[in-house]
Amino acid sequence: MAEVERDSRGEAKQSFFAKQQLIGSAKTAFQQLSAVLKNSTLYPEAHPFLLSSAEKLLSTIEALLVDRKEVAFYLVAGELFFETLSVPIDQSLVLLMEHFASRDVGGIIFKPGLTAHELVRFASLMSKEPAFFSTQGDIAGVIAKEQIDHIELHRVLIVDKKVMGTIKEEKKQVSAVFMDAVDAVKEMAHAVHIDKAASMRKMNTIVQTLVDNILDNRDALLGLTSLKMYDEYTFTHSVNTSILAVSLGTFLSFAKPQLAALGVAGLMHDIGKMNVPLEIINKPGKLTDEEWEEVKRHPIEGALILADIPGVSKMAMVAAFEHHQHGDVRGYPRVDESLQQHPFSQIISIADAYEALTAARVYYKIQMPAEKAMQILLSKRGTAFNPILVKAFVNMIGIFPIGTILKLDTGEAGLVVHQTRDLMRPRVLLLSKFDGSEKESGTEASLLETAGGHYKRTAVGTIDPYVANIDIKKYLA
Ligand SMILES: [Fe+2]
Ligand SMILES: [Fe+2]
Repeated sequence: MAEVERDSRGEAKQSFFAKQQLIGSAKTAFQQLSAVLKNSTLYPEAHPFLLSSAEKLLSTIEALLVDRKEVAFYLVAGELFFETLSVPIDQSLVLLMEHFASRDVGGIIFKPGLTAHELVRFASLMSKEPAFFSTQGDIAGVIAKEQIDHIELHRVLIVDKKVMGTIKEEKKQVSAVFMDAVDAVKEMAHAVHIDKAASMRKMNTIVQTLVDNILDNRDALLGLTSLKMYDEYTFTHSVNTSILAVSLGTFLSFAKPQLAALGVAGLMHDIGKMNVPLEIINKPGKLTDEEWEEVKRHPIEGALILADIPGVSKMAMVAAFEHHQHGDVRGYPRVDESLQQHPFSQIISIADAYEALTAARVYYKIQMPAEKAMQILLSKRGTAFNPILVKAFVNMIGIFPIGTILKLDTGEAGLVVHQTRDLMRPRVLLLSKFDGSEKESGTEASLLETAGGHYKRTAVGTIDPYVANIDIKKYLA
């Protein structure tokens, strides 16, 4: 088993570096495009400076074209995407993005056969004033007129109500995936007399769907974890921990088999609580020393229960045993200090702790906004939690997690629905009011959007949905 894990970790690492390399090349191409545009305003078309900058860009695009049919960039709400990968951009590229957006360009696709001369003609076309484009009608026609055959242009994508409708439909599916996972944990928890192997097969199938959905749209499922979807806490907690752990796995570019193993481990990590009396599990007040000793047995009980289930991943057993052990092995159950918590258990520990902290307000009415939960995780970096994993987790969840309501400097309120490359500037669903009778305006906006070099909207604070009595469920579930 150790062999298999080492191999798959290698695979995950490889895909991570390949992705970073691709993002790097895409960024280079866009920087070179910026240089060609600049040169085209300074030099005539046949000038060697302009031509050599176009040739540099051409060779980057050609290198990208080796593995693909076309090289496609998309500009969506202040963000740059190469295919589906988000490309980090700096200030110089922000201006270029605005330049394209003001000319109604939302997608640029380069095709094989492209020449440096076409790039030069494209640059000179793009340096025309925005007014020129508004009189031209179809943007694809403009480029065809210039006989630039190997570049395709697309209009800016408007996120309108229709698009919102399809997002809602997607959400309906993810909440079904969530409830399936709740059922799977429930079935396993009560599977004393029934066919455990069959329950495990079912759970594996559900986890595959869960992993596919997270790979497809991580933010939709992360949004559900903020809702505490199901009234029985143990089950919601297990499903949320699983979603958070798999999400961190996708953030770290783990391969699919590892994501599935993390998913099952997350669902099963607290299965040992089934052998702890319910009065203790649900006791709202402080536990006595004896009761606490009972609770502390659940990792051992969990590993024992899992050892008895045919077809369960060994990783789930390890994670159940180790999830309260802490990176410095000072947690429980106590083990030899020379032993180290497995990286998967470290991921489950972080997901588990964050979930429990953010759930406290819903189930026990303890004030614990997500940012406070994050501070607690950060304060335990290097002791209870692996510092690198905590950092990755914070980057994934964001400073304003999905489901947070932001007060904007425009007087609007926005519900965070997606993270962007800038943790302070997520994408939000605009709400027309935020006094409990709020309505979604149906418009999504990215806080990265700029106009005239300034951000259109900036978050100036957060609004507690429980205090403001806003039912975020209707937007996220
Ligand atoms: Fe636990
Ligand atoms: Fe837990």
